[in-house]
Amino acid sequence: MSGRTCLTIVLAAGEGTRMRSLRPKVLHMVAGRSLLGHVLSALKMPENTAIAVVVGPEHDDVSADARANFADSQLFVQKERRGTAHAVLAAKAAIEQGADDIVVVFGDTPLIRPQTLEKLRGAIADGAAVAVLGFKPADPTGYGRLVTQGMELIAIVEHADATEQERAIALCNGGLMAFDGRKALKILERIGNANRKGEFYLTDAVKIARDMKLRAVALEVTEDEVTGINTKAQLAATEATMQQRLRQAALEAGVTFVAPDTVYLAADTKLSKDVTVEPYVVFGPGVTVEEGATIRSFSHLAGAHVGKNAIVGPYARLRPGARLEENVQIGNFVEVKEALIEAGAKANHLSYIGDARVGAGANIGAGTITCNYDGAAKHRTNIGKAAFIGSNSSLVAPVKIGEGAYVGSGSVITTDVPAGALALGRGRQTVKEGWAKRLRELKSLVRKKV
Ligand code: UD1
Ligand code: MG
Repeated sequence: MSGRTCLTIVLAAGEGTRMRSLRPKVLHMVAGRSLLGHVLSALKMPENTAIAVVVGPEHDDVSADARANFADSQLFVQKERRGTAHAVLAAKAAIEQGADDIVVVFGDTPLIRPQTLEKLRGAIADGAAVAVLGFKPADPTGYGRLVTQGMELIAIVEHADATEQERAIALCNGGLMAFDGRKALKILERIGNANRKGEFYLTDAVKIARDMKLRAVALEVTEDEVTGINTKAQLAATEATMQQRLRQAALEAGVTFVAPDTVYLAADTKLSKDVTVEPYVVFGPGVTVEEGATIRSFSHLAGAHVGKNAIVGPYARLRPGARLEENVQIGNFVEVKEALIEAGAKANHLSYIGDARVGAGANIGAGTITCNYDGAAKHRTNIGKAAFIGSNSSLVAPVKIGEGAYVGSGSVITTDVPAGALALGRGRQTVKEGWAKRLRELKSLVRKKV
């Protein structure tokens, strides 16, 4: 929408009581991101865009989430919940700044796409004073009905206030609207609350605009884009739709999913081409996987970077701050947290590597643990290039293993090991010749006596 300025007002003051949760509705998560976060990312349009978020009183966490997802969000508090038009007017100061287009979106519609919002703005650029997104839900109960003549919108009638005849209208209000910025305030300030709920309905804007001899239009979209979430069941259904979208986008970008339906992605998961993901893998937020890497079954990754041609899993866990360089191998039942694993290093079995650096080409034997926590603070383990850590070793941090050093299996290492050295930190083995044989003979004597 070149050259036109835009203000988007996101209504996020909802209580969400039907979610049966202490958490504000818009902070529920889909694909690792809050509902509000999804809406705000759909709004990240080019310059000339301001975003106002209307929150309820005592919703500091909603404000914080808005800022985290869009740093320049202007925040407004709607002190009492008196309807959608009342909520929009909580952002009056932002409207008064005079954008060309004003778009109103609900904070609980995470499937909205940027191009749909652009279409709404297009209708305003083409001369409408009000543009509304319509859709045909399977069950229209509860939605406002769009009274139209062609695509010209005559009025929106809320379900509670609609006649039987009006309730038979299939086209419903998706809730997203755009206004001509120069006319918005004049329209909004005329909205009253003479209706069954005694609320200030944003939807009344349509009739008012027409009374002012202005144009109102409806644009039809598919149901999923405007699905508002009110219940946990709808949250789960939306998660499924979002996962489908994310998987489809990854497949189109050249990722191989052996069984796409079993892979769970986060909204910000970045998988390069020629990445292979085996069945049953979960990506939490903040994961990047570079070309040619393979994520094997039953692995869980969050906040991690996987370098080129690395192999992760099966059954691996990469936690935040895990950074794997190229050709690294992290195998079954290995957990990595806040650790740099340099090129070609391997930890293939049953290990915990936390707060560590593992040098290029190092080999971490089965069962190796970095003991990073002393009950009060975390400490670092630094393992040099090409070091060899024998199986079942405990590296008690802070500790440094020098380049190319060897640690004998079963060691508990508490002091630094110089480069090229061998460190052994375990009980010395004793062997008692004939001991087992004598034990067996003794036992058989006892049995005979009984
Ligand atoms: C609204 C529309 C209806 C449409 C439906 C689509 C109105 C009057 N009705 O109805 O035509 O079919 O959405 O889902 O607009 N909110 C506030 N403050 C308020 C009231 C609401 O911030 O005082 C926010 C809510 O948090 C929510 C949004 O506005 O995000 C919509 O409110 P909601 O009560 O869900 O409206 P509906 O009855 O669903
Ligand atoms: Mg609603």
